[in-house]
Amino acid sequence: MLDLERLRQDTPGCLERVFLDSAGSSLPPQPVLSTVIGHLRREAEVGGYVAADERADDLAAVRGSIARLIGATPAAIALVDSATRAWCEFFGAVPLRAGDRILVSRVEYASNAITALHRARAAGATVEVVPSDPSGRIDLDALDRMLDDRVRLVSLVHVPTNGGLINPVREVVELAHRHGALVLLDACQSIGQVPIDVDDLGVDALSATGRKWLRGPRGTGFLYLRTELAGSLTPSALDLHGAEWISADDYRPAPDATRFELWECDVAARLGLGAAVDYLLGIGIDYAARAITDRADSLREGLGAMPGVEVRDLGVDRSGIVTFTVDGVDPALVREHLANNRITVTVSGRSSTLLDMSARGLDAVVRASPHYFVSDGDIEWVLRTLSTLR
Ligand SMILES: Cc1ncc(COP(=O)(O)O)c(C=O)c1O
Repeated sequence: MLDLERLRQDTPGCLERVFLDSAGSSLPPQPVLSTVIGHLRREAEVGGYVAADERADDLAAVRGSIARLIGATPAAIALVDSATRAWCEFFGAVPLRAGDRILVSRVEYASNAITALHRARAAGATVEVVPSDPSGRIDLDALDRMLDDRVRLVSLVHVPTNGGLINPVREVVELAHRHGALVLLDACQSIGQVPIDVDDLGVDALSATGRKWLRGPRGTGFLYLRTELAGSLTPSALDLHGAEWISADDYRPAPDATRFELWECDVAARLGLGAAVDYLLGIGIDYAARAITDRADSLREGLGAMPGVEVRDLGVDRSGIVTFTVDGVDPALVREHLANNRITVTVSGRSSTLLDMSARGLDAVVRASPHYFVSDGDIEWVLRTLSTLR
């Protein structure tokens, strides 16, 4: 069971402020903090290599914890430094020829889109946008019509950066696989707040960050790769960790997803990511998901009842990301007003999700993303503070 008081005590940052930016970079809980700081201290005492050796078992366990969270095997997980790195590494390894097609959804994240366009341009491939249905989710009928045997990859954003939408995954995978296309799921905003089982969803690969809903340290992330793919895709960068140098003219890539990792890493942050995932496993993703949805729903309800405020979330099922605008008030000023009253939110601008924001005629939205450690009192304070804005 979620014991809110205990969770809040574990989260020093939430006692002084109302923190509504877990979609940006959340507040790590105490076990993550002490793991990271403890390891940095140890590195200062004995050096980075000895300190890492001392935690070899814990480091090896990080992959296992992530695997447990998403229903994968540890061999299917590569630890990297960001969701973008995970996305780019997988995307870069998918063979692409002139005439090939890549499909993205309307809520594609800017970095993914830029990477896709950059590579497609060099390969003579195309990047095409699957429209959204009237609810804002990826239009499955349109996707069905667009798929053919030249589509190499469908990139699906599970939860976009600019709103509460949750895209359907299994349905997209079924359609894509019928045409032999791979599905790369951007789970950057869903991991840690939406239960994910990769076998159940059937995705070929998944990219994720540690710093958002998982409450891990910055500079952490991971790539999940379907086991059968690990042996057939080669990353653009291979080092002595991702491969073995076996002769003057040969090398052998690792048999599993670790071929997508480089040897050097921030060991303290990686241990911190493991602590964050273990903390969530202790709470239970289903409890966490329900608590986050409760808080987001009550925030949306309060905002919806406020004159001059428009909730901008699309979709049918909604995540913990709540976006809104206030008539005649720049979102940056809304953020500032809230910050002056001890409330942290952020602004999601057009360039992050260019296609979706342009289609909806939006330049920016205020983004509030409450985690399970946010209290009812916090939400009331946010609504009261916003009512004094106008
Ligand atoms: C939907 C989505 N995808 C990808 C990213 C990129 O993640 P990272 O900054 O860890 O590379 C973000 C970051 O906000 C995001 O919201």
